[in-house]
Amino acid sequence: MFSRLSQVITVSQRSLIFDLQIKKSHMMVTCKKYVLVKHFKGEPKPSDLEIVEEQLPAIKDNEILVEAEYLSVDPYMRPYVARFPTGITMIGSQVAKIIESKSSKYPVGKRIVGSLGWRTHTIINTEDQKADSLGTPGNYILPEIGDLPASVGLGVLGMPGNTAYFGFLDICQPKAGETLVVSGAAGAVGSLVGQIGKIKGLTVIGIAGSDDKCQWLKNECGFDHTINYKTQNVGVELKKLAPDGVDCYFDNVGGDISTTVMYQMKLFGRVSVCGSISSYNADVNAQPKTTILQPAIVFNQLKIEGFIVTRWADKWQEGIVQNLKWIQEGKLKYRETVTYGFENMFNAFAGMLKGENTGKAIVKV
Ligand SMILES: NC(=O)c1ccc[n+]([C@@H]2O[C@H](COP(=O)([O-])OP(=O)(O)OC[C@H]3O[C@@H](n4cnc5c(N)ncnc54)[C@H](OP(=O)(O)O)[C@@H]3O)[C@@H](O)[C@H]2O)c1
Repeated sequence: MFSRLSQVITVSQRSLIFDLQIKKSHMMVTCKKYVLVKHFKGEPKPSDLEIVEEQLPAIKDNEILVEAEYLSVDPYMRPYVARFPTGITMIGSQVAKIIESKSSKYPVGKRIVGSLGWRTHTIINTEDQKADSLGTPGNYILPEIGDLPASVGLGVLGMPGNTAYFGFLDICQPKAGETLVVSGAAGAVGSLVGQIGKIKGLTVIGIAGSDDKCQWLKNECGFDHTINYKTQNVGVELKKLAPDGVDCYFDNVGGDISTTVMYQMKLFGRVSVCGSISSYNADVNAQPKTTILQPAIVFNQLKIEGFIVTRWADKWQEGIVQNLKWIQEGKLKYRETVTYGFENMFNAFAGMLKGENTGKAIVKV
């Protein structure tokens, strides 16, 4: 009697397990995503994007289903999205957790970093891991980061961290004792560039848009000097802070600030042109006329070089490993401005363009 009962239970357990497996292998998920309905004109408007729901199919062999945990909002999204037609999912990267897997290389529970766009859930074909349309390495498993939050995969241990590491060191070729100026200094990239400058023994001057940001750069990030470009005259202050001139300029913003700095460079100064956020909301067909730069470039024999961080895609992990080491040694500080809720993606994006972030702007789903 007892053994029959146990047999019955075993059979029903088996059928329950089988049932669950069927359900699991057909996990149906509704994804939310932001669709670009209108190209940005001037400042982005909430009505340029629309949240749409999408039913995802069951995953197939070699596919994984991931759920976004942290999404990134970055300045490049503003100019870059103009290259794509309306109707696309808004571009961007995210840290996402693998919640279902049919690939032994990508187990459930691991996190990936990928340019999946502004969406909550995504199915990824793990056999198709080529670089994405931005040129950043395809989806990769978040490296070992110790106790740090997974969001660092989008900031100091991700694309902005590598932008600072390679874009500054490779292009500016800094030497101890030199003077470095960084614009956009309290942002994701700039705050790291200045600190790497300090690690390499330079005198560092940061240009940022508020007193609070300047205080943070000096008190926590170890910058030597700061200039609040909204309340101070950059040219006048720079003359006082670097009377002998500037050796390296890491340019995040372009426009008048950059022209002013470049006129105060030393002979053989080096400029790493990373971004031009001061013009991202401008009409590309009606750019303002700016001060002529050529005399500064010619007579001081400056080297000015633009770059896109994907240039170092084949060395991607080197930047992550070095920045992690500096964090662990207490030499590199990072900050994140976190906005909560997928529905608040647009506010986080628009706020970042206006300077509401200190350090990396992140959205936690
Ligand atoms: N080349 C590449 O591969 C690459 C990769 C990553 C980033 N970037 C570029 O690097 C720059 C910084 O990016 P990020 O991710 O670190 O962003 P971020 O600095 O964290 O955020 C953008 C910051 O730009 C500043 N800003 C906005 N409008 C400005 C203006 N008119 N003049 C001066 N500053 C202004 C704001 O700070 P304030 O309060 O100081 O104004 C804002 O917080 C951007 O230009 C971006 O496009 C380039």
